[in-house]
Formats: sequence, C-alpha cells, structure tokens
Amino acid sequence: MLTTEENERLTRVGPGTPMGNLLRRYWLPIAVAADVGARPVARRLLGEDLIVFRTGQGKVGIVDRQCKHRRADLLVGVCEDEGIRCGYHGWMFAVDGRCVEQPAEPRLNSRVQIKSYPAQELGGLVWAYMGPQPAPLLPRFDLFVWDDALRDIGECVLDFNWLQAMENSVDPHHVEWLHGRFMNVHNALEAKGAEPVQVLAKRHLKVGFDRFEYGIIKRRVLEGQSEEDEDWKVGHPLVFPIILRVGGGGMDQFQIRVPIDDTHTWHIWYTAYRPGIPFARQATIPKYEVPLFDAAGNRNVDFVDGQDIAAWAGQGTIADRSQETLGASDVGVVLLRRMLQEQLARVEQGLDPLGTVRDESANACITLPMEQNKYGSGARFRDELFAHQAVRYSPIRHEVQALFSQAESSAAPPAAEA
Ligand code: FES
Ligand SMILES: [Fe+2]
Repeated sequence: MLTTEENERLTRVGPGTPMGNLLRRYWLPIAVAADVGARPVARRLLGEDLIVFRTGQGKVGIVDRQCKHRRADLLVGVCEDEGIRCGYHGWMFAVDGRCVEQPAEPRLNSRVQIKSYPAQELGGLVWAYMGPQPAPLLPRFDLFVWDDALRDIGECVLDFNWLQAMENSVDPHHVEWLHGRFMNVHNALEAKGAEPVQVLAKRHLKVGFDRFEYGIIKRRVLEGQSEEDEDWKVGHPLVFPIILRVGGGGMDQFQIRVPIDDTHTWHIWYTAYRPGIPFARQATIPKYEVPLFDAAGNRNVDFVDGQDIAAWAGQGTIADRSQETLGASDVGVVLLRRMLQEQLARVEQGLDPLGTVRDESANACITLPMEQNKYGSGARFRDELFAHQAVRYSPIRHEVQALFSQAESSAAPPAAEA
C-alpha cells in the first residue's frame, strides 16, 4: 500500500513531476520509424504534444506541436530538406529547433527557437530524449540490433496509467490465474479454444526477484520444475523503467509501456524471431494493431495480453494504491516501487538513474538475460504465444511459424529405417 502522495509521485509523468523527471532521463520510443515519412506525425509523450518529422535529408526531428509564430499546428506542415515548414505562414524549424526561415519577414529573427528534443532511430523505432544534457547513450538492447532476426511491432493505446502495466511485469502469480484458470474457463464458456492451456496454468512453487544493472530479473519455479530449470536459473528481466522482456524458443519480445500522459499508455509488442536458418531480409518492420475490444465493445479477453490489459484497466485510470491489501506474493511489486522511489531520489540528487548507459564501448549490443526453455517447454511455449498472445495478430506469423518448422525439421535427426 502507498499513501496518496506516494502514489502521485510514482504515477504522474508531466513536466516538473518527480516521475516525469525520472522518465526524462531515459530514451523513450516516440514513433514507429516507418510511420515517419513524407508527412509529419503528431505524438504525445509524457504529457507533451510533439511533432515527429523526417527532413528531406533523412534526419528525424522532434519539436513542439505548435508553431512558435502564432501557434498553428505543425501537423499541418511540410517536411523539407532543412526541417519542418509550418503550413500557415511557412516558418521553418530545423531538427534542433532553430527557426531557419520566416518567409514573409524582412529579415530572419534568428533568436526564434521552438522546443525540440534529440531523436534517434534504432530497431525500427524513433526514440526521444527529453531530459537534461548531456544525454546518455540510447541503449542498444539485443532485440533491437540482432542481425539474424525477423521482427514485427504490435501496438495499441491503453486508457490508463503506465505503472499498472509495469507492476504486472513483476507479478508472476497472476499467470496461472489470469492466463490459466480465467482464460480456460472464459474460453470454455465462450466455446473458444476447446483445449485448455496447460503451460500457462502451472502453479508457481517459488518466485524470486534480483536487482541487476538494468532493472529486475524475475525468476520462478513452476510445478514439476526445480531451481535447475532456466525459469529459475536464468529468468527474464524488467528493464528500467518501461520494458518487460519475455519469450522463449527463439522468439523474444519486449513489451514497452510508453507513458503518453498520466492516463494513457502506448503499448508496444516488439518481437524478434530467430529461426536459426537463412530468410529474406525485411525491408521494413511490419506493424499491426492489437484489438482490445470485440465487436460488441467488450474487452477482448480471449487472449493473454487482452486479459492483462483488462485487469490493468479494471484497477482504475490511475490505480488508487492507498486502498490495496498487499500480501507476501506481491514481493516483486513492492521491490519495483522501492526501486522506482530510489531512482526518484537519485535524480533529485543530480545522479544518473539505474540503467543509464554512457560507455560507448559497452553499447554495441547489450545482451539481456532470458530463459529460452521457458516453462520447461521451449518451442511449445513459442507455439502458445502464437496461439494466445498479441503476436497472433501479426501479419508475418505464418511466415515465421513456417521458418521455425523448417528449422526444426532440418535439425531433427533422420528417422530410423524400418
Ligand atoms: S503560425 Fe506557423 S508560420 Fe505562422
Ligand atoms: Fe499476464
């Protein structure tokens, strides 16, 4: 349980708030790179309305949504070689926010500057840094840089606070209930999926959480397992402050919960598939929408991520943590809150928060711990993902599954002769 004040401190992300200041110390995804093309794109991040654009020279810029002249919306603007030109009177802003043209003025007022933030592209996403200089490095986490992976990007907008999603990432017990008991009963009642999902319904015998240099490693021992299994020995991480890493069987996923503002979250499923055999290179990373509601307007709870989202939504627009009753099984949630509070204090002291990367030599590819034989079932877990998780909406799922099957059949030992 938190006091109302503590809850505010951990959830609010706008400019000048403690958590807003902390989140501004990290590079955050702001757009899918393929969406930033000939036209500017409007995005809201940490409560600030921004425009993401690509110049004719290929540079990506992030500036205030409203023009510095007379506040027109730069979404009605033109991407040009040198920057973005306001559609109203043609003032042009470079990627660093300098106003470089004021066509109807007798001379350029070179002091005019629009708010701008550094932008970088990595792994098919555009990332923004909204904090103080000197900016840290954009961490090159493995999924974003592997050159032997196919990728896709699923997305949706959640109408509630980001922290509910992150707390779920250190809450292993919910898996056996929400994605085991609830899903199996729901799908049986709806006559969907006659086969109950056994892998996700295994009981947790033990859970563990360890701090590491990028966040928290989550471990579990399920029924039928021991501490010798990868789920305990390796585990998988919550990467501070907004990423959960999941996967198994050659399929790795970041679930990224980007705070749009206090009450909206851009949820990204960034999946990398490594079948271990050659495949045609992707020109762009395909994107898909994850449907949160069914045709009748009810929350879509027949798949894992839809169940998570329904649970988080049910906690409220901003969950009132002053009204909770925590138990021993909430140990991961308590640790996450404590670590976030520690990072708030570090930033208030002018220190870098956990996971800040400033050493170029360590940033070629940051390999994160990740069990592959997840739930003791490896490839079977991957198949469960395709059947029951957001990736079932991916436009490349059949292509990817065919590659994995091909890889498995070519790796299988030859059948014994009769
Ligand atoms: S309002 Fe943008 S140029 Fe006038
Ligand atoms: Fe879940």
